[in-house]
Amino acid sequence: MRRLLVTGGAGFIGANFVHYWLAHHPGEPIVVLDALTYAGNAASLDPARARPELTFVRGDIRTPGLAERLLREHAITTIVHFAAESHVDRSIHGPDAFIETNVLGTHELLKAARRVWLDDAPGGDEVRFHHVSTDEVYGSLGPEDTPFREDTPYAPNSPYAASKAGSDHLVRAYHHTYGLPVTTSNCSNNYGPFQFPEKLIPLMLVNALDGKPLPVYGDGLNVRDWLYVEDHCRAVEQVLLQGRVGDTYNIGGCNERANIDIVRQVCALLDDAVGTCASLQAQFPRCPAARGALTASLVTFVDDRPGHDRRYAIDAGKAQRELGFEPAETFATGLHKTVTWYLEHESWWRGVMDGSYRDWLERQYSVVL
Ligand code: NAD
Ligand code: TYD
Repeated sequence: MRRLLVTGGAGFIGANFVHYWLAHHPGEPIVVLDALTYAGNAASLDPARARPELTFVRGDIRTPGLAERLLREHAITTIVHFAAESHVDRSIHGPDAFIETNVLGTHELLKAARRVWLDDAPGGDEVRFHHVSTDEVYGSLGPEDTPFREDTPYAPNSPYAASKAGSDHLVRAYHHTYGLPVTTSNCSNNYGPFQFPEKLIPLMLVNALDGKPLPVYGDGLNVRDWLYVEDHCRAVEQVLLQGRVGDTYNIGGCNERANIDIVRQVCALLDDAVGTCASLQAQFPRCPAARGALTASLVTFVDDRPGHDRRYAIDAGKAQRELGFEPAETFATGLHKTVTWYLEHESWWRGVMDGSYRDWLERQYSVVL
């Protein structure tokens, strides 16, 4: 039987992955290791609190010896490594935490896996270290460039991307040098439930509901490839079950959009939902749609992000061919689900956005929140 250690399992994708795994692999024990930084929320695991398979450990992946102890105590066979500092804007203003968690933290986990799985118990259960990474390691594309493939050279541009690239290289090296059974997935931008409202889609949603400006960087024409988070979770499952040890897989939604189009689509969905529902109008009186105005009237173009990558696009052909990966959601269905979830979970997003975060955000940008 598989026994999972999920790092970062109280974060956005990690929590969705825990819910996905419990639904599809009941009976398989999961230990979540999460430091509960500003981005980690124990509340995101609430729906699974009663599940006997789930153990939550509050701890830091950088702590020497901690992962090794958990691997031994819980006889872990599979590490799914999500824990990271994940927000590009924060990495621009404070890169140190990104190097510490994403590079050094990943190295602590690799050392623990090597010690427990290779040095102490060679030939034991089938084991796997799966590293969750990003398409941002490949750098920025021009409008006519072909999408990123697994053999696209790395060219990270932000401290976040560079720290993830560093962790990817360490994972690769532990396989090449020590024979650690690893896989890596590099995924495009995710959206969906439980995403901290600092990333584009949830930030636009919560600001719009509060009648606050919707800060669009630069000309709003930067392009990302968007994937609904549950589709990413299924892709990670497919890599774990069918992926080739030592390989990397690019995961994407085949769904490139300019930021301004996304923001306008979010606004249109709120116009529909709030504009036609008296109880939502009472719940969100500051949303323009509550008084019959257009939510898009809140769009505010602000200074561009320094070094802002123009375009990301993923060629997920390898995952399609070798794993049968296909996203189940279109952007329309995924975005509709996401908007509905945020409308129905106001207490979650208000709870995770404390005063210190709002103060921080306010200092970074010339918009009044
Ligand atoms: P997130 O910021 O929402 O969550 C990160 C989680 O890691 C949080 O729960 C946090 O508490 C935890 N964490 C941070 N530092 C830690 C430490 N030192 N020790 C233990 N736990 C720590 O991030 P996310 O969006 O869920 O991303 C998860 C992973 O997926 C990251 O590795 C990220 O690089 C990758 N990824 C994200 C996206 C995306 O669009 N969000 C796309 C591709 C890849
Ligand atoms: P983000 O969600 O931070 O993801 P990433 O930088 O990892 O792609 O940003 C997605 C895109 O949206 C990116 O091009 C930056 C842009 N953006 C804005 O225009 N305004 C915002 O307030 C945020 C957070 C992002």
